[in-house]
Amino acid sequence: MIEIKLDLKNNPYSVFVGPLNELEVNSSVLIVTSKVIAKYYLDSLVSLLKDSFREKSFEIATCVLEDGEETKNMQSIETILDTAFKAKLHRNSLMIALGGGVITDMVGFASGIYQRGIDFISIPTTLLGMCDASVGGKCGINNAYGKNLVGLFHQPRAVYVDLTFLQTLPKREFNAGVAEMIKMFAGFDFSALENFSVNDLESFIAYAIELKAKVVLEDETERLNKRALLNYGHTFAHAIELETNYKTLLHGEAVAVGMIMANRLSYKMGILESRKVDFIESMINIFSLPTTYKIKDVSSFYESFFLDKKSVDSTLHFVLLDDEGLKVHDNVPKELVLEVLNEFV
Ligand SMILES: NC(=O)c1ccc[n+]([C@@H]2O[C@H](COP(=O)([O-])OP(=O)(O)OC[C@H]3O[C@@H](n4cnc5c(N)ncnc54)[C@H](O)[C@@H]3O)[C@@H](O)[C@H]2O)c1
Repeated sequence: MIEIKLDLKNNPYSVFVGPLNELEVNSSVLIVTSKVIAKYYLDSLVSLLKDSFREKSFEIATCVLEDGEETKNMQSIETILDTAFKAKLHRNSLMIALGGGVITDMVGFASGIYQRGIDFISIPTTLLGMCDASVGGKCGINNAYGKNLVGLFHQPRAVYVDLTFLQTLPKREFNAGVAEMIKMFAGFDFSALENFSVNDLESFIAYAIELKAKVVLEDETERLNKRALLNYGHTFAHAIELETNYKTLLHGEAVAVGMIMANRLSYKMGILESRKVDFIESMINIFSLPTTYKIKDVSSFYESFFLDKKSVDSTLHFVLLDDEGLKVHDNVPKELVLEVLNEFV
C-alpha cells in the first residue's frame, strides 16, 4: 500500500493507493454512488463495511443517484441530504463517495454542508477521480450559470485508490483520465511523462497524486497562483466544451486538445522547445485522445476565454508550459492567440 500524506494544517489526510481490503470506520455511514457503479460495487463495499464494524451496531445507508454530469446539480444534493436526514446521520457520521468525479464532487459538497459539515471519504472509481477529482477538496456542482460554480473547499478524511475499479471503466473514460495524468507529468515533471507506461500504472497514479498533493499543500484554497497551474490546457478546453455544449468530448479529451493548443501558443511565444510540443502531442495520440478540433467560430471561441472563471478581471490568464515548467501568463499577445486558433479551423 502506498500512502501519500497531505499535511494540510487544519485538514491533514492520506491517500492510500492499493487494494481496498479494509476500511476503518467508527460511525454510521451513508454511501453515495450512481446506478452504474452500484451495479458493480455497492454490495461488496457494504460487506467490507460490515466486516469492519464487527460487533458494533452502526448503520449503513445508501443513496444511489442517476449517472452522469447532468446530475451534478442542487437537486441531487437535496436527495443526498434528504437520505442523510432520514438515516439520522449526526455530526460524527460519515459519507462515502463511491464513484467518479461527479459523485466525489457532490459528496464533498453535501457532506460539507450537512449539519455545517461532516466527514467524508472518497473511493474513486475512475482514473480521473483517482488522479485528480478526489484529491484536493474542491467540491463544486453545476447550475444554469455554468460548471462547478457553486461549491466549497472540503477536504476528505481519507481517499482510497484501488485500481481494481478500473477493470470495468470504459476505455474512453480511462483515456480521458490519462489526459489529466499527461497534464500533471508534462507540467510538473517532464521526465515522468517520458517514462510513463501503463504497465506500471499504480506507481504512476501514485506519483500523479503526489504531484497534485504538492500543489494543494502550497495553495489549499486557490488564493495564490499555484493551484491555477493545474488548469494547464483548461482555458482552451473550456472554450471547446462551451462550443460543443459539453456533448461531443469528455472533459479529459477537451483538456488533451487544450494542451496542444496551449503548447502551440508557448512555442509561438518562444518559451517551449518543439521537442516537448511534439512529445506531448505524441503521448496524447498514443492514448487515442483527440489531437485536433475544428473551431466553429474563432472570434466567439476567443471571447469565451473571458467567461472562464479564472479570468478574474478583463485580463486573460493563460497557464502555459515553458522549458522550466508551468507559469501563469497575463500578457499574451492577442495576435498570437488568434494565430493558434486559426490553425484549428
Ligand atoms: N474537484 C476536483 O478537483 C475535480 C477535478 C477534476 C474533475 N472534477 C469533476 O469530475 C467530473 C468528471 O469525473 P469523471 O471523469 O470521473 O466522470 P464521472 O464521474 O461522470 O464518471 C464517468 C463515467 O464512468 C462511469 N463509471 C465510473 N466508474 C466506473 C467504473 N469503475 N466502471 C464502470 N463505469 C464507471 C460513470 O458512471 C460515468 O458514466 C466532472 O464533473 C469534473 O468537474 C473535479
